[in-house]
Amino acid sequence: MPSRRDVLIGGAAVALSTSALSVARAAAHSRAKDPASLAPDESYWALTAGAYAVDGRYIILHGGGNNPHPRAVTSALATYDQMASSAPRPHNYTLLGRKEQIRTRLAAHFQCAVDELAITRNTTEGLNIVAWGLDLQAGDEVLISEYDERYAGAVFEQRAARHGIVLKTVPLPVSPSAEDVVARYAAMMTDRTKLLVASHLTDGWGFVLPIRGLSHLANSAGAQLLVDGALSFGHVPIDVKALGCDYYATSLHKHLTAPLGTGALYVRPDRLQALWPLYGVRYDAGDIRKFEAIGTRSGPTIAAIGQALEFYEQVGPANKAARMRYLSSLVQSALEDVAGVRFITERNPALRTGLARVAVDGMTGKALTSTLRDDYRINTYGNFPGPDDGVYISPNLFNSARHMQVFATAIREIAARSG
Ligand SMILES: Cc1ncc(COP(=O)(O)O)c(C=O)c1O
Repeated sequence: MPSRRDVLIGGAAVALSTSALSVARAAAHSRAKDPASLAPDESYWALTAGAYAVDGRYIILHGGGNNPHPRAVTSALATYDQMASSAPRPHNYTLLGRKEQIRTRLAAHFQCAVDELAITRNTTEGLNIVAWGLDLQAGDEVLISEYDERYAGAVFEQRAARHGIVLKTVPLPVSPSAEDVVARYAAMMTDRTKLLVASHLTDGWGFVLPIRGLSHLANSAGAQLLVDGALSFGHVPIDVKALGCDYYATSLHKHLTAPLGTGALYVRPDRLQALWPLYGVRYDAGDIRKFEAIGTRSGPTIAAIGQALEFYEQVGPANKAARMRYLSSLVQSALEDVAGVRFITERNPALRTGLARVAVDGMTGKALTSTLRDDYRINTYGNFPGPDDGVYISPNLFNSARHMQVFATAIREIAARSG
């Protein structure tokens, strides 16, 4: 039997697993160290990794998609679900009542005010709220970066098809510099440009786009900036005020490892009143909750965001960011001099995160993904047609230095076979 710390919620006891508590103990042990010196401490991180329920047959390196959850999240979710299904009223509503407390905690992580943050279902929903909620007219222009075509591109294409807005894609090079990105957006702006869209961390590569510079560019031209933060929240600390953006959409089920179907949308307070919600609602236009009124919602899913936040807070956002950067750097150094292999990600060491792409000459990302999965049981993602097609790796707290070495060895073997 796991040892239990019982938390009373709506009259039901929810047991936090021993693994969550071991993280707390390990966190206490870590206090003496700074994030960079804690990052390679495998014994500390093994305790943290042990708090996750991971199918041990696989090495999971596709955290940019979905991640396994800490046991504290899965067990809370199961218990909450039992409560809610045993008597939806009152239990589902008691659990939904925790939304305000969760909003307060999330807002502290975004470094914004509580009334500036909506709890959505994912990044896609946040992007859609902004895409459809802005009063854009036919001929108004929206600029997205080349790296945003897959996600924001799909959303705005539909608005272009239905309402005649003009969607323009800003071409960006591999490993773009901040100045270059801002200059390229600026060069494509006209007096009809109403919105710029940019990922904070780019899908498939992990480049860091200069959000602060783009905010300044947009706002000084009377336009606005929407950030796709799907890959940043829970991976690197975020300060939306310092970024200066108008909107920031993220998913909580990615790096934060909150329950599937959870996300958040930051809306700058002076933009809130004018932004329509996706659904018809009877909320005040100045209330951020208008974006959450989508009919009945799952109390268990929302309440269990609390356990994911608790876990993240125990680990510490700065410690997690440093650990992710360290794990990815192990792959980079192991593959540095290997013929036919390229490790590609953000070049600026001050901005580097855990996200990266690994390409093997002569192999598509799809083929590399399948070989890693079928021959090595390593889960990655790769389908980025172009000269640097490869697999996108994105570690999380359940990964170890050994996982990164196994991955690097697999890549070395595959490159030797295909070379
Ligand atoms: C950059 C980016 N934006 C948006 C999304 C969509 O996220 P979700 O499915 O959680 O809405 C993803 C998913 O991988 C992504 O990588």
